[in-house]
Amino acid sequence: MAGRMQEKIVIVTGGSSGLGRAIAELMTAEGARVVIADINQEQGETVAKEIGVEFVRTDVSNPTEVDALVSGTVARHGRLDVMCNNAGFIGMSPLVETTDESYSRMVDVNFGGIFYGTRAAGRVMVGQGSGVIVNTASNGGSSPSEGMAIYSGTKAAVIAMSKAAAIELAPLGVRVNTISPGTMLSDMVPDVPGIVEMLDKLQPIGYAANPSQMATGVLYLASDEANYVTGHDLVVDGAATAGRRAVGS
Ligand SMILES: NC(=O)c1ccc[n+]([C@@H]2O[C@H](COP(=O)([O-])OP(=O)(O)OC[C@H]3O[C@@H](n4cnc5c(N)ncnc54)[C@H](O)[C@@H]3O)[C@@H](O)[C@H]2O)c1
Repeated sequence: MAGRMQEKIVIVTGGSSGLGRAIAELMTAEGARVVIADINQEQGETVAKEIGVEFVRTDVSNPTEVDALVSGTVARHGRLDVMCNNAGFIGMSPLVETTDESYSRMVDVNFGGIFYGTRAAGRVMVGQGSGVIVNTASNGGSSPSEGMAIYSGTKAAVIAMSKAAAIELAPLGVRVNTISPGTMLSDMVPDVPGIVEMLDKLQPIGYAANPSQMATGVLYLASDEANYVTGHDLVVDGAATAGRRAVGS
């Protein structure tokens, strides 16, 4: 039986780990030809071999590298159907202690990287008259966390930019949406004893998500089943940001 992404050409940034890897595996299982891009060359090459996809070493904060990722994919495969701009990293610091360097890096990767990928893919997709862009934001973009002012700010910017792009590109046949994960057990979670139990307890649903539980949301947004869904932020967070919990829960 043909998969839901049969013969689609898909790029996933941050594809060496966590959510990016889970998206790449699911898209491949659904019949897509997938290119993963990541700054981590060693892990990227290993994962690409393990799951049977291509790897292109890319720093998404560098627009020249992102343009080359997209143009190289189109040169090899003839088109680009789905662009998952997913690479990002987390950083925590009290606002008044945030350094210029950590602020700039976070903006360059978490917002710049998503913008460069949306722009490069958008140019190709507008030329084709078709395509889907799925950008990874966070539930922190609409419900910011203490100690994560800049991270939350970049994710809010990703959601707003993606909605604006959706309006511009809808008449041209291109859909743009965001996925906003809640807490997900990936390499992003610091390796501290007891942290998984602590994170599980914080979620109304009782546990922190597995990246594969977000990848299914990305697959939906990328698939033809969502052909009227654009400009949407899909929050997948086990009700973590649905509202306030009772005191003591
Ligand atoms: N883990 C969570 O709880 C959580 C929650 C909400 C949103 N997110 C978002 O999900 C996305 C994926 O994160 P994850 O949890 O899978 O983390 P992860 O650390 O497992 O994966 C992130 C990947 O991005 C890559 N990357 C980082 N900087 C890069 C750059 N400049 N260029 C190219 N690749 C780069 C890393 O090498 C890594 O492979 C991120 O955008 C993150 O902000 C994560």
